Amino acid sequence: MTSKRSSLHGQWSSRWAFILAATGSAVGLGNIWKFPYITGENGGGAFVIVYLVCIACIGIPLMMAEILIGRRGRRSPVNTMRTLAAEGHHHPAWQYLGWTGVLAGFLILSYYSVVAGWALAYVFRAAGGLFDNATGEQIGELFTALISDPERLLAWHTIFIVMTMIVVSRGVQSGLEKAVRFLMPGLFLLLAMLVGYAMSTGSFTEGMAFLFSPDFSKLSSASVLVAMGHAFFTLSLGMGAIMVYGSYLPEDTSIAQTSIIIAAADTLVALMAGMAIFPIVFAHGLEPGMGSGLIFQTLPIAFGHMPGGTFFGTLFFVLLVFAAWTSAISLIEPAVAWLVENRGMTRVMASAWAGLATWIVGLGTVFSFNLWAERKLFGMSFFDLLDFATANIILPLGGLFIALFATWTLSRRVTKDELKLGRTGYQLWYILTRYVAPLAVIVIFLNVTGLLELG
Ligand code: PHE
Repeated sequence: MTSKRSSLHGQWSSRWAFILAATGSAVGLGNIWKFPYITGENGGGAFVIVYLVCIACIGIPLMMAEILIGRRGRRSPVNTMRTLAAEGHHHPAWQYLGWTGVLAGFLILSYYSVVAGWALAYVFRAAGGLFDNATGEQIGELFTALISDPERLLAWHTIFIVMTMIVVSRGVQSGLEKAVRFLMPGLFLLLAMLVGYAMSTGSFTEGMAFLFSPDFSKLSSASVLVAMGHAFFTLSLGMGAIMVYGSYLPEDTSIAQTSIIIAAADTLVALMAGMAIFPIVFAHGLEPGMGSGLIFQTLPIAFGHMPGGTFFGTLFFVLLVFAAWTSAISLIEPAVAWLVENRGMTRVMASAWAGLATWIVGLGTVFSFNLWAERKLFGMSFFDLLDFATANIILPLGGLFIALFATWTLSRRVTKDELKLGRTGYQLWYILTRYVAPLAVIVIFLNVTGLLELG
């Protein structure tokens, strides 16, 4: 039995390369596009608190579990699960956990790419000066014009998928690593600038109160599910993205420390996006719960009114595209790594096939904003349903089983050896991962399905 392996696909050149890549995976549309709009839909403060608690008590321990499993197995999530299960004489069915991850990544990327396409389109709208002095209403019309045109959405979706596949096909070292180096600081600076602008709108206090003063009467059990689902989504957990990145992690890197850094950076970006957006929403009398177009209908107003707005607006959407790009590559990496390992494909072929399949499923999302806008399943459009099912059901379920695998199935010798924590640190991780995280997921699931009456 070998406990130390190396990955067929290469290794990160340093601990920082891993932190950058994993942060690149975590920080994306989830932080800047999704977090503000679901916070708006779910009433603000109380939702944010549940989300933060989920990040701390479920997200961080689970990220550690995923990284350690990945580093131990050193293969694609499917083969890592298969290998670790076989080595410990556990049930071979554990490999299906790898499969759900591949499926989730591919489904998420199919709609993620469409939204990233909006960001791409907005680079050109910003650069063309379309936001200059525009009113909230004009900005709203601009957004509606974009999403109601299937051809335009399809074109941007196609371009984004191709961009993703080009980076993925180049592999871990040359492709993924280089893509993340300058993005984070740049994005961070621009967000700070937008928060600065938000302070000048006169509605900053109102925006901050919406985000940070909790009103628990606004919190339904469905909102709690969305908050938890988003904690998984935003940290890229529950589907093997972080596991596959962990499989390229050098042996001597501290898993706990890196997980905390990644989660903190991710949370900071999301909160800053919220602080930039809600003051603008209130200053212009917009509706916080307007849905998935929220940032595309608020931030352009800011750019249209600030000095140098054309430049900063363009730069912002370029960075948003980059943030989406580095997340997208991690969504499809588990599938590509599997195709290379098990189907003997080259990385280029594997990326092409994975990209094509994702592109096809993405058509459903493209049409759900226009041609199929009236078609609803469980009261949701194709896009909403896909987003709901993946982020709020498949990822938490995947995460639940990953937590169970790490603490009920893998031996303590293995997890201790990988985590290299002191006694208290290890105990804390163990309790959170073995009991707290799984129970929280189960209780939230049961509660939302109405199977559990919590008073
Ligand atoms: N975390 C990414 C974001 O916030 C999305 C993502 C989810 C990436 C799952 C990989 C895996 O945008």
